[in-house]
Amino acid sequence: MSLKEKIDITRIPQHVAIIMDGNGRWAQQQGKLRVFGHHSGVSAVRAASEAAAELGIKYLTLYAFSTENWNRPKQEVDDLMELLVHTIHSETATLNKNDIRLATIGNINSLPVACQKQLQEAIANTANNKRMTLVLALSYSARWEIVEATKKIAQKVKDGNLEISAIDAAIFSNELSTAAFPDPELLIRTSGEQRISNFLLWQVAYAELYFSETLWPDFDKEELYKAILDYQGRERRFGKTSAQIDTAESS
Ligand code: IPE
Ligand code: IPE
Ligand code: MG
Repeated sequence: MSLKEKIDITRIPQHVAIIMDGNGRWAQQQGKLRVFGHHSGVSAVRAASEAAAELGIKYLTLYAFSTENWNRPKQEVDDLMELLVHTIHSETATLNKNDIRLATIGNINSLPVACQKQLQEAIANTANNKRMTLVLALSYSARWEIVEATKKIAQKVKDGNLEISAIDAAIFSNELSTAAFPDPELLIRTSGEQRISNFLLWQVAYAELYFSETLWPDFDKEELYKAILDYQGRERRFGKTSAQIDTAESS
């Protein structure tokens, strides 16, 4: 039985988020420049998107560039931005073929104008696709997002459009850039690092975390199947006891 066949298609997570890590190390292991790793990471993005869509995952969020990544050497940042423009342009046809809609989260205004334009174009060109939403986190950090949401809420209160007593988790979630998406049930990080690196801090409150040793350019469909199978073996308790979960499942 193949890995894919072992997956219970009735229990597919709706939203999977991935911290795509390890491009630089992948390149360096082969005596190549880090940028080579980023280029090689693009085929892993394609594979993960296709595999996720085929499984019936509705939202796939990929951490592509963090707020902190601006602090990398200028050449690497420039290379990444150029790769982004080029990839978005060349992948739009594949997104349409696979019925995948593109969306972004993050401080998009901070990206070079050429990137912003390419993104706007691809988002418009894929807007009617229904199978899956591919969310690219670009110039994204969760603390940035949480601060932005707080400012929006403060403004509403100041304008008299919101009572302080009415602020709750749902109101807060609604001001985050992920407001239109459900919280991820599964967060994957590649390359053996076991940290969140400022990604979706609010949204992963109850996500299952899966860490893979595989470096991102080597992450293929089978790797995604492994992560989904691992997820399906977990018991998600949300603060309850195991016995309560068993009872709910059998009733
Ligand atoms: C992930 O790979 C891609 C980005 C953060 C843009 P890295 O570039 O972080 O690769 P490592 O972690 O240095 O190997
Ligand atoms: C996290 O990876 C950001 C992205 C994958 C885009 P990093 O490689 O930047 O994270 P740290 O610095 O090792 O925590
Ligand atoms: Mg890294």
